[in-house]
Formats: sequence, structure tokens, C-alpha cells
Amino acid sequence: MDREELERVKRERDAIVLAHYYVDEQVQAMADHVGDSYYLAKVASKAEQKRIVFCGVRFMGESAKILNPEREVVLPDAEADCPMAHMASVEQILRMRREVEDLAVVCYINSSAKLKSVCDVCVTSSNAVKIVSSLRNKNVLFIPDQNLGRYVQAQVPDKTFYYSGGYCPVHAQVLASDITSELNAHPGAEVLVHPESSEQVCALATFIGSTAEIISYAEKSKSRAFILGTEPGVMYALRQRCPGKVFYPVTPMCSDMKRITPEKVLDCLRGGGYAVKLCAEEMDAARKPLERMLELGK
Ligand code: 13P
Ligand code: SF4
Repeated sequence: MDREELERVKRERDAIVLAHYYVDEQVQAMADHVGDSYYLAKVASKAEQKRIVFCGVRFMGESAKILNPEREVVLPDAEADCPMAHMASVEQILRMRREVEDLAVVCYINSSAKLKSVCDVCVTSSNAVKIVSSLRNKNVLFIPDQNLGRYVQAQVPDKTFYYSGGYCPVHAQVLASDITSELNAHPGAEVLVHPESSEQVCALATFIGSTAEIISYAEKSKSRAFILGTEPGVMYALRQRCPGKVFYPVTPMCSDMKRITPEKVLDCLRGGGYAVKLCAEEMDAARKPLERMLELGK
């Protein structure tokens, strides 16, 4: 299908296509908006089209539905799910609430709607430091990503952090030794990493940030060579925005993000796909931390 026809189908179906930087390049090329989790949540919350086709993993589609419940939010692949989104439990959160006083439960957006429904505020990698710093509570339970939590903790040292112990299985595969061997092969290259990476990997970074922040850092940097410590889907934007610069990716692909194919997106645009369905009570409870994130992240 050529671009003109694609746009015609979107108009006819009153659909908008949102895509995360980690999905297949051809899928990114079909999207109306490509971005990091925070940007996509903001766009989804304001979308006026009848149908939002969300090219990403399940928690992204769920967040879009919760923030904009009047729209039909459709996932191209029902199985595309972030394993980390389930690495905490409601029981664990409720127990911590009973045991720790003056506690804020901070939920990385990479979490199921069920987990969000018992949390106080959501964050993404691009707003976590700002939002956690603005909280009055002395104690923070940060779920589910312990690596992102530790990164935030280092910048908000006056608070005590507790963790559920989750992690991203994709970023966890990168070892500090992978970075050092790339540095040996490409001396002088800058090291760009996502805060879902391990502490040892983050310690070797020149820059730590969300996918969107990594892309804009690389664009502005005077350096010509970069070791890339995040999912290689960002290469599509990097090639367009950083001509002449060289990137050496060390992170493997996220197989869940890569389940989204152009064919499945087209199927969504023709009325197929998997509509996000959540119970009203869970959506209402999960909306509070998501809306608080949008408010505090401004
Ligand atoms: P960001 O795009 O917000 O940096 O998130 C990365 C990620 O792992 C999404 O699943
Ligand atoms: Fe989840 Fe990691 Fe894949 Fe992001 S890269 S969707 S955190 S498994």
C-alpha cells in the first residue's frame, strides 16, 4: 500500500497510528507519531480520532485507553507484552503500604493496568527524576524497574527507596564488558544508555536518558561515534536525524516490540486488531496515577 492510500484508509476509518521507537522501521514509517513512552501517552490522551492504533506493547495501549476511554484503542498483536510490566504484585504493594509510613508508590509506566490501579503516581524514564523530586513523601516504593529506580534514587538522595525487584530482560542482557570492548574498538565514542540498563552499564555512560532523549542528545552532540545502549529500533530515527554519525548498537532487539508488523497495522486500519478492554473500576483507579504523571510532568 502506498503512502497516499495509507493516509486515505486512516481518514476513512478515522484512525491515528502511534508507534514506539522500538517497533519495526516500516511500522514507524506508517505512524502519525513516533516517540518515547511519555510523548506517546500525551498524544494518546488528546487524540480526537475514533480509533487509536497503538504500535507498541500492551501497557502502552492500556495507558492510552485509560487516558482516553472514549476512543477505541487497538493493538496490532495481542501477545506483544512487556515482561517487566508484571514484575510486582498488588499484594506486595498493599503490604508495603501497611508497613512503611509516609510512602509514595511510584509506578513506572511499563506496568499492567492492575498494578497502576494501586499506585500513587506513574513515571516514564524521561520524567521520573522530576516527578519523584516533586513528591512530599519521605519514602518511595518504586515498581517494577529496579534499574530505573536506582538511577532516580541517585538523583533524589533525600528519599528512601524500596523496590519490587523487576527489570527489563532486554536491557539486562548488556554487560559492562560489552561496553568496554566496544570502547576499545572505537576509542572516543560516546556511550548512550537507557536507564533500564544495569548500574555497571550506566556507570560507563556519557549520557543516560529515555529513547527520545538519547536521540536528541546524539543529534546535538559534536561527537561522530556512539555506542548505543538501548533497543536498536531507535536507529531508524538516528539515521534520519544524525546523518554522518556512526552508531554501534550493543542491546538486543525486544522481541515483543518486534511482533508488530506492517501487515498487522494494516489489519487494524481495516477494522481488525485487538481492542484494549479493561474493567471500568480498574480504569478509573489506574487513571489517577497516570493523570498525576501528566500534571506533575508538565
Ligand atoms: P522510553 O521510550 O520511554 O524511553 O521507554 C523505553 C521502553 O523500554 C519502553 O518499553
Ligand atoms: Fe519491556 Fe524491555 Fe521490551 Fe521495553 S525493551 S518493552 S522494558 S522488555
